[in-house]
Amino acid sequence: MKRLRVAIAYNSYEEAQHEAASSDSSSGHHLRLMIRRMARTLRGLGHDVVIIHLAGDLSKLQRKLKRLRPHVIFNQYDDVVHGALYEMRFAAFIRMLGYPITGSPALALGLSRDKYMALSLMKGAGIPIPSDTTLLERVSAVDGHKWHFPLIVHPGQEHAGIGMGRDSVVHTKKALRDQVRQVIGSYKQPALVQGFLPGREFNVGILGGRKLRVMPLAEVDYTRLPQGIPPIMSYAAKWVETSVEFKRTRVICPARVEPSLAALISDTAARAFRVIGGWGYGRVDVRLDEDGLPRVLEVNCNPCLDKGIGLARSAERAGISYPELLQAVIRAAFEGPPYDMHLPIFSTKPDAAPRRRRTRRQPVKRPV
Ligand SMILES: Nc1ncnc2c1ncn2[C@@H]1O[C@H](COP(=O)(O)OP(=O)(O)O)[C@@H](O)[C@H]1O
Ligand SMILES: [Mg+2]
Repeated sequence: MKRLRVAIAYNSYEEAQHEAASSDSSSGHHLRLMIRRMARTLRGLGHDVVIIHLAGDLSKLQRKLKRLRPHVIFNQYDDVVHGALYEMRFAAFIRMLGYPITGSPALALGLSRDKYMALSLMKGAGIPIPSDTTLLERVSAVDGHKWHFPLIVHPGQEHAGIGMGRDSVVHTKKALRDQVRQVIGSYKQPALVQGFLPGREFNVGILGGRKLRVMPLAEVDYTRLPQGIPPIMSYAAKWVETSVEFKRTRVICPARVEPSLAALISDTAARAFRVIGGWGYGRVDVRLDEDGLPRVLEVNCNPCLDKGIGLARSAERAGISYPELLQAVIRAAFEGPPYDMHLPIFSTKPDAAPRRRRTRRQPVKRPV
């Protein structure tokens, strides 16, 4: 690949709110380290890299991009600051400026944050999803359904384990009602209720544009969790290092799975990624049902690309190094998505000096 000007665009809660936050808060610190690691890796591939921190002023960003004229925007925008819908808005804005952008397009990013819409599309396309998948906007709606317990209750538009804890798996109608009330009240979003899948859980890494490549499967191993704690990737299991959930949950990659089951899981995940319009790279969460068959929990578009974890770890097991992974992500940005054009709606030419207005001579009206 030729030498490119790459702009890594990212945002962070800490820097957007710098008066309120301490600069060494750990998530902001980790994020900055990851961004620097990415920049170093891309420079190692021979690209010119500039890091753009988004602090909310889009016209400033537009001017900066006009000046820098990057060949591609490496999208590391996260919704932490402005909420779930802003991931898709940022991607749309960049495309309207006419720049290629890494990862999924706006529509897929929006869908991957609206689990119910995404799951409904998958269901329509014949991809298996958890039974009883229902969106509840009011607690009273619990009474309008016939439920098969156990169930799991999510906030409808969160990600990264937010709102998922020990009370998320419910066995009675009373517990269901309490959990739906808690989700609607605390997260100000509808509750997504589904049948609880009791089987093994897999994360499926996906890489590529027109041609998708599925990475070796990773399995979430809950077998060491104490009795009474539900086997789910809760917020604690993901982020709270001191919790028993975190200490007793591990990811095994590559997972030990019979080849025919691995092929079925991989195929199901790749179809789910395509159905919602994912592009470039993704991670699909899948769980087995009581018959041992895979059902899709969610499609993560633009998942974490940090070295050594998640998608990057699965890619390594396929012999794809970290630099090769980032290069593949950039390559996919130039491939598509299909029917999209690099057609700026706003001017991307450097600003010209203001021109003097020429006054048009008014045509002289002749007396008739
Ligand atoms: N229907 C389900 N059955 C069993 N476990 C589930 C189900 N839905 C979610 N989970 C568990 O909850 C975790 C988080 O759910 P997920 O939909 O992946 O949301 P997040 O965006 O928080 O990762 C999953 O990794 C899985 O362990
Ligand atoms: Mg998940």
